[in-house]
Amino acid sequence: MSSETMTATQAEQFRQDPAVRAAIDTIVDRAAAHSAKITDVRAGNPDLKVSYDELMERAAAVKGRGLLYPTLSGGLGNGALVEMADGSVKWDMITGIGVHFMGHSHPAVVRAQAEAALDDTTKHGNLQSSFAAYEFGEKLLKLAQRNSRLKHAFMTTSGAMANESALKACYQKHAPASRVLAFKHCFMGRSVTMCQIGDSAGGRQGIPLTTQVDYMPFWNEQAVEEVGGATRFIDHSVWRLQQYIDRYPGMHACFIMELVQGEGGFNVATRDFLRALMEVCKANNIAVWDDEIQSFGRTESMFAYELYDLGEYVDVFCVGKMTQACATLYTEEYNPKPGLLSGTFTGNSSDFTVGSALLDTLADGDWYGSGGVFAQHHAEFRRQVQGLMDRHPDWFPPATFCKELVGGVGGMMKFTPFGGDKAKIGKLCKVAYEEGVILFSCGHGPFHIRMLPPMVAMKMEDWPRVFEIVERSMARVASEG
Ligand SMILES: Cc1ncc(COP(=O)(O)O)c(C=O)c1O
Repeated sequence: MSSETMTATQAEQFRQDPAVRAAIDTIVDRAAAHSAKITDVRAGNPDLKVSYDELMERAAAVKGRGLLYPTLSGGLGNGALVEMADGSVKWDMITGIGVHFMGHSHPAVVRAQAEAALDDTTKHGNLQSSFAAYEFGEKLLKLAQRNSRLKHAFMTTSGAMANESALKACYQKHAPASRVLAFKHCFMGRSVTMCQIGDSAGGRQGIPLTTQVDYMPFWNEQAVEEVGGATRFIDHSVWRLQQYIDRYPGMHACFIMELVQGEGGFNVATRDFLRALMEVCKANNIAVWDDEIQSFGRTESMFAYELYDLGEYVDVFCVGKMTQACATLYTEEYNPKPGLLSGTFTGNSSDFTVGSALLDTLADGDWYGSGGVFAQHHAEFRRQVQGLMDRHPDWFPPATFCKELVGGVGGMMKFTPFGGDKAKIGKLCKVAYEEGVILFSCGHGPFHIRMLPPMVAMKMEDWPRVFEIVERSMARVASEG
């Protein structure tokens, strides 16, 4: 072994090598220069059509079924605009279901990926890892601890795995309790256990039901009105929760809560409702497990528990999607025994470098609060939908159990045209895609149009441009019947 004294590791010297620094600056600069040429929606390049169709067919052959959307991205974009592999450019209002929150070709993301490419390996795991994984965990915990008791974090590769780890931590702490409480319309991922808890029959066809779940209603303005007001709705919900607890004494390990529901329809609750249920959980030694895999970062607060000022109640918490790296956070009391949580992978280098860049961006900007940038975007979104409603009232008939036809919070945006009819909402997504806006649906009936835009990259002047295409697409759906 050489006895030569080094002031920095060889790896650090490589990272700081002036030629390497210059190369990364060049990549970031050139990405920006090419990205700047993407300025508007455009149709696909006919010369690329054959090869694009062939790519779609090859992708479908690999998967065993055609892709839901005929989308293959090309690798470059500009903010909320993304270039597809056929050269077409679209407004990306769904961002891989909430993943690309910084938009396309954001310089901080390009740089973080280039930094990650300097690593000797691409994957990190529980046995061998660079510090990048823990640096990401430290940042996340520091932000989480501003308003919660969350103390530790376990990093993993998907939202479903983060939820699996959360469930294991709850089961272990409350063994032998084996039941789970969940909200109606919840979604938690696609593992064997999570698809059983998720309230969607289609997501668990043929899967044996081995997890015992008791469902509670979520907050719904129309239901509140029907039962005679908020207090009655909350009292009834508490009574119902207590009934489950009395029916199965000591058998509930946790109550899994999306504080703003994602797949279930971008449903927002009230503090009093959630707090009342959390109080019952505390009184009965049931873990409060907050799944923010879809809502984290997007509401008018960084954490949805901050939106409702409920951080003190949260025992276990999950995050994923926009954070790139996924994680389960828990309080000291829920820190599991050794051996319960592990796995080969925690993530790629770029999951952690990009995830850290995202957390830095969110922590630094004036995004949050009722006057923050995200709230302003949300207000503009609602203004645009209101414009559609005013111009085309016939596109907005009432929808069952949907008091307002526009809703959500912050960067979780929904509107409900065509009475929330599944076929028409599906058709609108397809037509809008052809016209140049990528949308998606949410809810289980009524169905809504859902937007998860790249909030950090959205400009206020983008909204009329997006909605001009949405309007044209809706006109097509309305006229085609
Ligand atoms: C609230 C919620 N939990 C969990 C998941 C599962 O995450 P993943 O698809 O990364 O496994 C999702 C995904 O949509 C989600 O919205």
